[in-house]
Amino acid sequence: VDPTLRIGISGTGRIAEVLARCAPFAPEVRIVAVSSRDRARAQAFATRHDIAHAVEGDAALAARDDIDLVYVASLNPFHHRDVLRFLAAGKHVLCEKPFAMNAREADDMIAAARAHDRFLMDALWSRFLPSWQRARALVDQGAIGPVRMISAELGFATGEGPEGRLLDRAQGGGSLIDSGVYPHALVSWFLGAPDVIQALGTVGPTGVDEQTLCTLGYSSGAHAQIRSSLRAALASAAFLAGPDGVIELAPRLHRSTRVVVRRLGRDDLVEDLPYESAGLQLQLTHVARCIAEGRRESPVMPLAETRSIVHTMDRIRAQLGVRYAADEMAADAVAAPYDAK
Ligand SMILES: NC(=O)c1ccc[n+]([C@@H]2O[C@H](COP(=O)([O-])OP(=O)(O)OC[C@H]3O[C@@H](n4cnc5c(N)ncnc54)[C@H](OP(=O)(O)O)[C@@H]3O)[C@@H](O)[C@H]2O)c1
Repeated sequence: VDPTLRIGISGTGRIAEVLARCAPFAPEVRIVAVSSRDRARAQAFATRHDIAHAVEGDAALAARDDIDLVYVASLNPFHHRDVLRFLAAGKHVLCEKPFAMNAREADDMIAAARAHDRFLMDALWSRFLPSWQRARALVDQGAIGPVRMISAELGFATGEGPEGRLLDRAQGGGSLIDSGVYPHALVSWFLGAPDVIQALGTVGPTGVDEQTLCTLGYSSGAHAQIRSSLRAALASAAFLAGPDGVIELAPRLHRSTRVVVRRLGRDDLVEDLPYESAGLQLQLTHVARCIAEGRRESPVMPLAETRSIVHTMDRIRAQLGVRYAADEMAADAVAAPYDAK
């Protein structure tokens, strides 16, 4: 039996291109088919990446029996619909970030994965990079003592206009859910779900946050500060501080290739941790191993944590006054005012 995980890609946008370029670096997987709303676009994508089958529409992709997993690379507001479709068709699913527009959607998606007994993961690929894994190992080894404070940011000045996916509310735009999701996923990995959230942001004319600052508080006494921006070229590093020192994930956070450990009275420890291609293949290898082991979720990016990150972003958006169409169906899913206590 060929153990290779057979993948179908749903969508032919920018990130689908990157994933298709990275996939040959993961010998555990093979891209078998790609779907687009436009048949010619699917065919051109398949030709560029040497993919055997190009199909028009997700129904045709879902119906194929030569695919084990679908990589959902559609726009943010479509993740929920697309993930439910492919799970119902019996496929495992890897879903682009942000996983869902709100916690209600995330709950539906997770429940569907359980109901259909399929694997589902949030494609938070940075968590599988050698730099992020090294930071995790250093903290676990006690290199800086318990993490008490984190500063993490990711941001850039977009050249897109109001109709581009980053600023358009209908396409699920906004700095928090686009870029902020990476520092939030980092902070969640080390500190879990926050008890208190205080957020400040600029909501622009399109109704999404153009930049956001969040202070998170934890019952343990730890704190985190997270910044995201579509208007400023942020340094985009992260610093994890404990009593014995600080670990830096060097810029840019989501694709970091360097970890620096600074401890009082000791030389800085600088580790360069490069990876091949754009790095998205590392999550593919992980997903293939999980599925080969019969897992239905990842121990590195578990579904309960994905849900918690989405819920944290819901609570922040409630403070900023940013709402998406998905929220209108679930007023009760957006958090209560006690957050600012
Ligand atoms: N992991 C990362 O580093 C990373 C980076 C960038 C983006 N992302 C995420 O990946 C997703 C796609 O982003 P992108 O930058 O690739 O976007 P993009 O280039 O604009 O591509 C949009 C994708 O959505 C599909 N789509 C389905 N229905 C659509 C509709 N009604 N209108 C427009 N497009 C539709 C398109 O497929 P067809 O046109 O082929 O049908 C296309 O694949 C987003 O969730 C984004 O947050 C992740």
